[in-house]
Amino acid sequence: MAITQLKAKIVSNERVKNNYWLLRLECAEIAGKACPGQFVEIRVGEGAEPLLRRPISIHDAHKAGISLFYETVGRGTRMLSERARGSLLDVIGPLGNGFACDGLNKKNRIVLVAGGMGVAPLVFLAKRLKTIEPLVLIGARTKAQVVCLREFKDAGCSVKIATDDGSAGFKGKVTGLLESCLGQGGFSQIFACGPDPMLKAVANMARDNSIGSQLSLEEHMACGIGACLGCVVNTKNGYKRVCKEGPVFSGEELVW
Ligand SMILES: Cc1cc2nc3c(=O)[nH]c(=O)nc-3n(C[C@H](O)[C@H](O)[C@H](O)COP(=O)(O)OP(=O)(O)OC[C@H]3O[C@@H](n4cnc5c(N)ncnc54)[C@H](O)[C@@H]3O)c2cc1C
Ligand code: FES
Repeated sequence: MAITQLKAKIVSNERVKNNYWLLRLECAEIAGKACPGQFVEIRVGEGAEPLLRRPISIHDAHKAGISLFYETVGRGTRMLSERARGSLLDVIGPLGNGFACDGLNKKNRIVLVAGGMGVAPLVFLAKRLKTIEPLVLIGARTKAQVVCLREFKDAGCSVKIATDDGSAGFKGKVTGLLESCLGQGGFSQIFACGPDPMLKAVANMARDNSIGSQLSLEEHMACGIGACLGCVVNTKNGYKRVCKEGPVFSGEELVW
């Protein structure tokens, strides 16, 4: 699929809560090709600084553009949060291989597992899987860090929450909640995005329960387009680039 570089007009760039921001971009060309799990590379500054683009998942896509959901964690994402409505953002995308969801239907019981900012690409996926009504598990440190609950519910999903401190939902890691859900049986596929330890635990649980898993990795990236080999991960089929062959890999393929 062709990759596009363009200057996308910022339709809005608003703080949702805490350090979480929602950015809407006018870029029909990227939106028309985008699949859940793919990402864009953004030049966050107006000039050449910082040199490296920042990868952000496609959170939603519609006819006229895409939206991105991001957390300010450092210089680049802070600069992004300062970009004003109406200005132009240099964007490359859609990049990478997203989630494979063709052929899924209501007979498939699907669970989406999001750890922290892992919610970002899974909202787009949930909307694509709307007719299947997936179960969504959101893991966060505290209730204040639970985000995108409304978006998942509006997409017809049932949602369960896990918080480390028990301030909302299940007390403990989202993988603990997943374990109890899998115990009910009937699931055929897990889609997950979040920190590596969570993804590793999800892959192990999927294997133990003979369920397929598709995991979106958030490796540090330099070029983002497959040229620098800065983002490789070990797989049963050799080293692969997260930005090019990923970011979504099957859990059985990854070597942790
Ligand atoms: C394919 C992909 C999709 C992503 N999608 C999203 C998204 O939808 N929303 C979102 O908020 N973030 C997403 N990220 C992470 C995002 O790219 C980083 O948070 C961002 O690049 C940090 O830039 P910075 O300059 O603000 O922070 P830096 O100053 O570069 O780093 C600040 C802190 O963030 C950590 N960090 C930096 N890059 C990453 C990374 N790739 N993964 C995990 N931790 C990182 C650093 O270790 C450091 O602790 C994604 C990353 C990848 C690879
Ligand atoms: S970031 Fe350069 S190859 Fe992936």
